[in-house]
Parts: sequence; structure tokens; C-alpha cells
Amino acid sequence: MSAIDLNARPSADFAGKLEQSIHLLQGVEQEFSPLTQASSLGAEDMVISHLIHETGIESDIFVLDTGMLHPETLALIGRLERRYQRTVQVYRPQQDGANAFVQSFGKDAMYKSIDLRKQCCDIRKMEPLARALAGKKGWITGLRREQSSARAEVVAIEPQPERVKINPLARWTWGDVWHYISINQIPYNPLHDRFFPSIGCAPCTRAVTLGEDPRSGRWWWEQESAKECGLHLASSLPGADSGASTGTSSIIPIKEIAA
Ligand code: ADX
Ligand code: SF4
Repeated sequence: MSAIDLNARPSADFAGKLEQSIHLLQGVEQEFSPLTQASSLGAEDMVISHLIHETGIESDIFVLDTGMLHPETLALIGRLERRYQRTVQVYRPQQDGANAFVQSFGKDAMYKSIDLRKQCCDIRKMEPLARALAGKKGWITGLRREQSSARAEVVAIEPQPERVKINPLARWTWGDVWHYISINQIPYNPLHDRFFPSIGCAPCTRAVTLGEDPRSGRWWWEQESAKECGLHLASSLPGADSGASTGTSSIIPIKEIAA
């Protein structure tokens, strides 16, 4: 059974949510350009890349290739580029830092302690993220409220120290995501058909069983509270210590529509 057969069930107000997401993207293009989309190449991010194409808004799309992604995930970069006739920016870790970490702590360092796991995420995700976001006023992510209790309060536009984070699918359900993929024949990661709902680096992602929490396949050996790599923790963002403000007073109308 494919991920579409299993999951494509739109919520009753799906049409309204879609309209709000489109309106949000159009609004942020006016207010927060230059924009970039952070794509893990997961289902949500493929939906957003499709929406960027459909709305015609100006936004880069970037992928953090940690050096640990599944081949199926990497193959999607070319599929996305061909489908939408555009280039995807790929950011990789500094090779020296990544090699030195593996030499010191081993290939399986992430399983040894939370601290080492976070160091690995810092080297392979956070440092490249800072480069990907440099000079951007807004970054678009696939965060959804439904994904975890830590994300239950996700809003459409989140002010951050140096830019805003835009979450066009904040209120979408998993069924909405797959419904939209299905009706638009959006390319998606074949790992989703093999019960990988949430896909990150290969050593830190595994399949889940029916009825299990979708994020339980991520860093499954850790407690729920530790399960963020830093991309979405305000305290670990580039510029988080500067106290600078993004000055979001003018975004209120968009927020009201889509929060
Ligand atoms: S994570 O923090 O646990 O890894 P998750 O996989 O749920 O995050 O993805 C949430 C959002 O973070 C994605 O929708 C995407 O916007 C961004 N993201 C996660 N991983 C990457 C990646 N490798 N490259 C670019 N963006 C990413
Ligand atoms: Fe390293 Fe795992 Fe973090 Fe990927 S998710 S950067 S492999 S610890």
C-alpha cells in the first residue's frame, strides 16, 4: 500500500487551508524577500516546493546534504529540479570538521550520547544552515503543529533574531499533505511508501509501525524531549544571541489570516 493510499484524507476545511497557505506565500514575498525554502525533501517540503512553483513566488530552495542522507532522498533533488525546471541549492558540511569528528568519536558517535549527537547535528546541519540563510529575510519550512507536542504551537510567521520563519503548512494534517501530493502528482521520497513518515539522516531515521507516533522513527533511542536537531530551536539559531529584532509589525494582517 502506497503512502498516498494510506494517508491521502483531506480534512473538511482543506480548501480553506490551501487558500490561506497560498495567500501567506504571496504576502511574505511582498514583505520578506529574499526568501528561501529549507527542504528536507520530505512530503511537506515537496508540497511547499510545488506551491512555490504554482504561486510563482520568488524563492530559493535549499537542501542541507549532511553526507548522511539516504540515496532515495538525494535522488529527489534531481527529480524536483526536472519537475519544476529550476535549481536546488545544496549545502554540505565543512569536510575537515566532519572528518575530524568521525576520527575522534567514530561513525556511530550519535548513539553514544546526546551531546555527541548534537555535536554531529551542529557540524552537519547547523553550520551549513547558517550559510544557507545568510542574507535572507525569510525562510520557509514544512513544520506542522500535528508533528509533535513541541510543535503544537507553530504559527504561520515566526519572528526570529535575523529573519522570519514561515510555516505555510502549520495547520495542515498529514492527510492534507498526502491529498495534495496525490491530486497534483507531486514527486515524493519512496521511503514514505516503506513506512518512513519523517525522514532525516539514515543513521538517525527508521521505519515506524502502524499506529506509532510518526516522529518515533527519528532518534528513536532518545527521550522525546531531546528530539530536535537544532534547526527549529530558537536558542541555537544563527544570530540568536544578538537580541536583534526582525520588526514584524507590518506582518500582522498575514498573521491574522494564517496563524
Ligand atoms: S528536524 O529538525 O527534526 O530534522 P524535520 O525533519 O521534522 O526537522 O523537518 C522540519 C523542517 O526542517 C523541514 O520541513 C524543512 O523545512 C527543515 N529541514 C529539515 N531537514 C532539512 C534538510 N536536511 N535540509 C533543509 N531543510 C531541512
Ligand atoms: Fe548526525 Fe544524525 Fe544529526 Fe544527521 S541527524 S547530523 S547523522 S546526529
